[in-house]
Amino acid sequence: MRKFFTCLAVFLVLALFMGVNPPTSSAADDENCLMCHKYRKMGIISPEGVRKYYYVDEPTFMQTVHSRVPCRDCHYFIKQIPHKPVNTGVTCDTKCHVINPATMERFSHKPIADVYEKSVHGRAKRPEGEKGAVDKNKPYCIFCHINPIYNPEERETGLPKEITDRCNVCHENEEFAKHWYMHTSRRVRDVKRQGTQIVELCNTCHKDENMLEEQEMLNEALLHKEMGKKFTFAGESYDESFHAKVTKYGLKGAATCVDCHVDSDNYYMAVHDIRNSSDPSSPVHPDNRVNTCKKCHYHGEADESFVNVDPHPTARLSDNPFIFYASIIYNIIAYTAFFGLVGLKMLETVGRLRDGVKLTIRNGSSWRRGLK
Ligand code: HEC
Ligand code: HEC
Ligand code: HEC
Ligand code: HEC
Ligand code: HEC
Ligand code: HEC
Ligand code: HEC
Repeated sequence: MRKFFTCLAVFLVLALFMGVNPPTSSAADDENCLMCHKYRKMGIISPEGVRKYYYVDEPTFMQTVHSRVPCRDCHYFIKQIPHKPVNTGVTCDTKCHVINPATMERFSHKPIADVYEKSVHGRAKRPEGEKGAVDKNKPYCIFCHINPIYNPEERETGLPKEITDRCNVCHENEEFAKHWYMHTSRRVRDVKRQGTQIVELCNTCHKDENMLEEQEMLNEALLHKEMGKKFTFAGESYDESFHAKVTKYGLKGAATCVDCHVDSDNYYMAVHDIRNSSDPSSPVHPDNRVNTCKKCHYHGEADESFVNVDPHPTARLSDNPFIFYASIIYNIIAYTAFFGLVGLKMLETVGRLRDGVKLTIRNGSSWRRGLK
């Protein structure tokens, strides 16, 4: 009932706006979805009280990597207009009408989705039933990828004319040159996320101990699946490592999550194929660790004993009893030394006061015996 009223409200607002603004169409929008979806007021307040926006800003959309994909290639479940309420989500493995010039077939992210499906994070778009419980905390494609604008800087400056002019000499079609320039220039530049961004992304989840403990419990109960030793505190323990500390202080090139957990052979594909460390294809599987550390520690230091240095160090009793007890002993020594010294100084001060020393500050800092 509530949903009906929200829909009604949306349509009333629409009706109001449509009278003022005549609809336009665009290349990617042959089906005229924007006739309704371009209105900025369009949206609902969900039963949970969250404001959801349903409008698409066409000029922005046209500068994104998906600008040529017709709306319904992604929102494939919309079959007629006006359409029915939507309760299916967009999956990233559908075929769209953009032709892949290498194969001359309709394009799809299915190869990536297939690899991803088998990785530790693989999940269904809208998990239901038993799978729902174990899948809901895993990221789906759009957790890591929004629909990025090709080259944000060029939004203001425009494309470099000296380059596109040159393309036009032969291709004789400004739109063609513009589009292909944007498509390739985005990839020629370094669009790879920086180390700090990767750590932030992975740690959105891998530092959420409550969620991870719940996940571990569910996996064990429902799938009889054993998680890695560091599973519930990987993010927190990485922060304790040498790599994290130097990365935080701006050193580029120290290992972040993907440098160890992702095969560098084809990074862009392998980043979707993260596996548990007990899987022989994981770069952090005990058999592969020397090679993984060697990528950067190539001066001969990365041997069997070097790779035993824990990249996820903690002082937890369950994880590393040696460090746990060592840190207790260290703390005892450190606190004893500190409070011992402070105590001694205090006793000395009390003694001096009793001797009649006055505490006045001269030239900033020194104590002197008062003049009698
Ligand atoms: C006649 C106007 C109209 C047209 C044309 C239209 N829509 Fe919608 N659309 C709406 C309204 C109204 C809602 C909100 C419905 C609701 O709250 O259940 C909506 C909601 C949606 C949603 C979000 C639903 C959700 O609950 O997450 C999607 C996705 C969507 N439309 C896609 C499309 C696509 C793709 C097209 C073109 C093929 C299209 N729409 C054409 C009016 C329209
Ligand atoms: C490349 C695929 C793709 C294309 C092309 C695309 N969308 Fe979407 N759209 C998505 C995804 C992914 C979401 C997030 C919701 C989800 O995961 O189901 C979304 C969300 C939406 C929503 C909000 C629904 C919600 O649940 O928040 C609307 C409305 C919408 N799209 C309309 C359009 C219209 C209109 C067009 C064409 C101009 C379009 N989309 C083109 C993938 C696409
Ligand atoms: C000297 C003429 C010339 C110039 C300058 C030129 N191209 Fe081309 N381009 C061609 C020819 C000819 C082909 C077909 C080549 C082939 O199939 O081997 C082609 C093919 C392409 C294709 C492949 C199209 C497809 O569907 O297979 C793209 C993309 C492309 N050019 C983009 C560009 C861009 C972007 C520029 C400017 C940076 C540019 N070209 C400059 C002549 C040129
Ligand atoms: C855990 C985060 C994560 C998830 C989930 C994820 N990706 Fe990625 N993806 C990345 C990273 C990291 C890169 C490397 C590029 C970068 O650094 O941004 C990447 C790269 C890509 C690229 C190459 C982009 C380019 O412009 O070169 C595509 C395409 C892609 N992913 C598609 C997908 C699809 C489809 C899914 C869902 C099946 C998916 N990704 C799920 C993190 C993720
Ligand atoms: C949206 C939350 C989320 C994000 C973001 C995320 N993960 Fe995960 N990750 C999970 C969950 C949940 C699991 C448990 C999967 C399962 O049930 O097997 C997991 C599992 C793993 C595992 C295997 C754990 C084991 O014991 O089997 C590794 C390794 C891992 N993630 C690394 C990463 C890296 C590296 C990144 C960043 C590129 C990342 N994750 C981003 C939620 C996330
Ligand atoms: C992406 C590159 C990269 C990878 C992969 C990498 N490291 Fe490092 N590591 C660095 C950098 C950079 C430093 C800091 C500078 C230095 O000391 O050379 C560092 C420092 C260290 C240090 C402390 C300083 C030292 O040199 O003794 C240890 C221990 C270490 N790494 C262990 C490992 C282990 C074990 C692996 C494999 C599981 C590994 N690293 C993988 C880049 C990397
Ligand atoms: C220097 C290499 C290195 C870096 C950097 C690194 N890891 Fe690990 N990670 C490992 C190794 C090796 C293991 C296996 C440790 C063990 O079981 O003793 C592991 C274990 C894990 C596990 C437990 C599951 C499993 O596969 O055993 C997760 C989850 C994880 N790492 C996530 C992350 C995240 C998230 C980051 C970044 C914040 C990160 N790692 C950074 C090397 C690394």
